[in-house]
This record gives sequence, C-alpha cells and structure tokens, in this order.
Amino acid sequence: MNIISKTLSAMALAGLTSAVALAQDATVVVNADQGNTVISRHIYGHFSEHLGHCIYGGLWVGPESSIPNVNGVRKDVIDALKKIQIPNLRWPGGCFADEYHWMNGIGPKENRAKMVNTHWGGVVEDNSFGTNEFLNMCEEIGTEPYISGNVGSGSVQEMSEWVEYMTFDGESPMANLRKKNGREKPWKVNFFGVGNESWGCGGNMTPDYYAQLYRRYQTFARNYGDNQLKKIVSGANVNDYNWTETQMRDIPLSQMWGLSLHYYVHPGGWENKGSATKFSDEQYVQTMERAYYMDELITRHDAIMTKYDPEKKVALCVDEWGTWYDVEPGTNPGFLFQQNTMRDALVAAVTLNIFHKHADRVRMANIAQIINVLQAIIFTDGDKMLLTPTYHIFDMYKVHQDATLCPSTTTCKKIENGAFKADQVSASASKDKDGVLHVSLANLDLTKKAVVKVDIRGMKAKSVSEATIVNASNIADHNTFETPDKIELNGFDGAKVGKDGIVTVTMPAMSVVTFAVK
Ligand code: AHR
Repeated sequence: MNIISKTLSAMALAGLTSAVALAQDATVVVNADQGNTVISRHIYGHFSEHLGHCIYGGLWVGPESSIPNVNGVRKDVIDALKKIQIPNLRWPGGCFADEYHWMNGIGPKENRAKMVNTHWGGVVEDNSFGTNEFLNMCEEIGTEPYISGNVGSGSVQEMSEWVEYMTFDGESPMANLRKKNGREKPWKVNFFGVGNESWGCGGNMTPDYYAQLYRRYQTFARNYGDNQLKKIVSGANVNDYNWTETQMRDIPLSQMWGLSLHYYVHPGGWENKGSATKFSDEQYVQTMERAYYMDELITRHDAIMTKYDPEKKVALCVDEWGTWYDVEPGTNPGFLFQQNTMRDALVAAVTLNIFHKHADRVRMANIAQIINVLQAIIFTDGDKMLLTPTYHIFDMYKVHQDATLCPSTTTCKKIENGAFKADQVSASASKDKDGVLHVSLANLDLTKKAVVKVDIRGMKAKSVSEATIVNASNIADHNTFETPDKIELNGFDGAKVGKDGIVTVTMPAMSVVTFAVK
C-alpha cells in the first residue's frame, strides 16, 4: 500500500472521507490589487420592445387600470426594477424600431394612429405607449433611456425631429409640440441607436450601404444644450466580422460612441431551439457551450475594433443577448414567450462574467427582453407578477455595477455530454468604491458540488460576508404563479476563509454564488 492509499484508508476508518471530497475541484486566482478597468453599470442594461406582452401588460397597464400603477406603469414592476438598479432601458425595438414612427405615439391618446405590428404577431399597435410615456417611466424607475431610431423605414428628418422633441430646451417646432403635450422641460437622452439589425429586419442592407447611411442620419441627430448623444452604430449579427470591419473602417470614430453586437443562445441553432423547460442533459451542456461562445465573439470583434481604435474609445454594446427557445405551447408564436429556468440563471451568470472580463471594450449590454419576452427577468399575468431566476442573478450581481474589475484566472474541469463541453466553473471579481472585493462563481455541474479555492492575491482576506446563492435541485426548475419563489436569492454559508487567507467555497450543483471579502 503506498502512502496515499494508506492515508485514504486511515481517513476512511476515522470517518474523514469528507476531507477527500474537500480537495478542490477548481481554483480561482483573483488579483485584488491589479484592476484598473471599471465594469460599466450599463452592461446591466435591459431591452423593452413592442413585442408580445413586454410593453402592454408587462410595463404598461394605463392610468385607468385597477392594477396599481404610477401614471400607467405597473407599480410592482417599477419596484422590482428599482431594486436591481437597472441602469438603462432600450426602446422601442428591436425590429419594431425600424417600423416605428414616433409621431404616431404622441399627443392625445384618442388621436393616436393605430398600426399593425407586422414583425410580432400582426397585432394592432394602438400607440398608447409612446415617447412621453417611455421617458417619464425611465425617470420614475431612475434608469437612462436608450432610444433606437428608425433608419429602415424612417427619414433623416423624422429621426432628427425626434431628438429635437426629446432634448431641445427652447423655442422650436418640436420643443413647442412637446410642451403642448404637457412636458415643459426636455428629458435627458444620451444613448441613441441609429437603426437596428440593419443587415436584417432593419432594412437588409449591405455593410457598406449602411455605413454611408449611418454617417448621414447621425449628422442630423443633434446635441442640444448639454445633452450629448452617445450614438450607437447598428452592429453585427453574431460572427459577421466583415460587418464590424466595414463600420470601423468607413465611419469616423468621432461619429460613434458605440457599435452593437447581437448574439442569442439558441441551443441547437435557429432551426432547433428546443423547449425552455423540457431539455436533455446533453442540450443543457450544449446551451452552456453556446453561452461561453460570447467570449470568443467579443474577443474577435474587439480585435477588429482595436485595429481602428487602439485606445478603445468606441464601446462594444451587446445590446441584444440572452436565450431564445421555442415559444411555450399554446402561446402566440409572434410573442416569443418562454419559461425561465435555472439553466437561464446559469447562462446569465456566465455571460455577465464574460462581459466583466471584457469591460475595457464592452461598456453596454441589454438582455432581451425585460418582461414576458425571451430571457425575461419578470413575468406578469393580469395583476400577478413574478421574478424569474434570471432576475435573481441581476439582483445578486448588482454589486459589480461600476466596480473595478479584478483580473482573475480559473482552473477547472469541463462538464461534457455528447459532442458538447463547457468549463464547469465561471468566475469574476471586482472591487467596489469602498474597496470591498466581491467574487461571483457559477458551478455548471448538474450533479456534483464544486469545491472552489479562491486564492486572493494582493490582499489578505479576513472575512467573508453578504454571501448569497441562487440554485435549484433540478435544472429545469422555474417559478410559476403558483410557486413564484421556487428559485430565489438566498443567504449562503458555504464560503470560508482559512488562516492563509484562501477562501474555500463549497458550491452545490447548479448554483451561482456571490460574496464580499474584507
Ligand atoms: O429580441 C427579439 C428580436 O431579435 C429583436 O426585435 C431583433 O432586433 C432581434 O432579431
């Protein structure tokens, strides 16, 4: 018997087998003293489109509703969004944005023109939620508006006048119209997208053609007073690197604040997205592999951007991301309603960790979409509202907003199934303005706990506090209106600091944890 076997036998006899299990499964080295990149709070942004029940029934019920509301916006939703400090909200689309004519959505409700929402279910859009309602709502929530302008079917004049209506403080046709509609002072609007998916639903343009149009449209989107627009170029679909190359080459850096990127996780590809709740272990690993692909996408788009913008002045804005599955059976296929399980919570944690890693380039991101659509953080049904597992990840991760990234490296095994594999542990760390270090970890294994050694360099850890966890006993677990709290944010006591300052975290299978280290 060699020395290891002898030791193991002795430990087993002494009932110490748990000590064997405590051998670490993963190591995360955190450089607490090395960060100099701020994780912009704007990567925690959200997206609200006139699609399904995102706006109507989700955010907006109207001032006459019996559902408690603040000027027509659901009170329960406002409170939930304030709690997670949503930094920005994108509107009105999406594909809808390039068919939206903002003048139809202002003034007395009874005079507002109705339109067909051709992209999303062919339903009637009565324009009862328009510019004033959106911008007032943003003020109520305490979030920055991110407006998507219409390039696909709108004119330069229409876009220009929209900016004037929203932001000009003085005497002008559009400012006067705004005043007539009850709003004396302009709103603050910084984020402004010039078109959406211009390679697809936004006009099926070639990259060269769009770049020229962008230059023209953005010229007339003016900065009024101290309102400085952060103009965002409609960016690439997934790995269309030529699109990124063309925009960076053909648009002067001075004309853009950001360039967007859209990437959705469809586990088996667009034709085989699968169910949100009924999926195999293999599809689960495939989903996680697809989630990690975000890292490669950002790395490659960033490399192209860096050729033209080595100082990284232009932000990469991942202004649509998230999971996209088949719609729930029996629901309108045009409404994109899907359940949200522990799998989605893990996708959110992995993706946010990737955004942190690339915080020097990714300075804005918007999960799609905020309520009742795709990877939603909130579901509503009449007067009922629930928070999805993804919401709880945003709640847990809010400590990273505007904190300084602490570079880290993770050594771990892979989870594997069929042709698919993914790192078992995803990690990220940041220091907030008070110098408190926060570490977030995700254990992707479906059955095994993970013992993660967090080796913090450049700081002697003395205590762990504020530890929270999101986990489930089945990966397909989700919240329903009958059991709204099946998955929630709970306290966690599995992170301990040793005398050596190393934090050992014993994570259950399928879990995400965050804790503070002092
Ligand atoms: O989020 C749903 C749709 O996905 C958006 O409208 C569009 O931009 C993207 O294709």
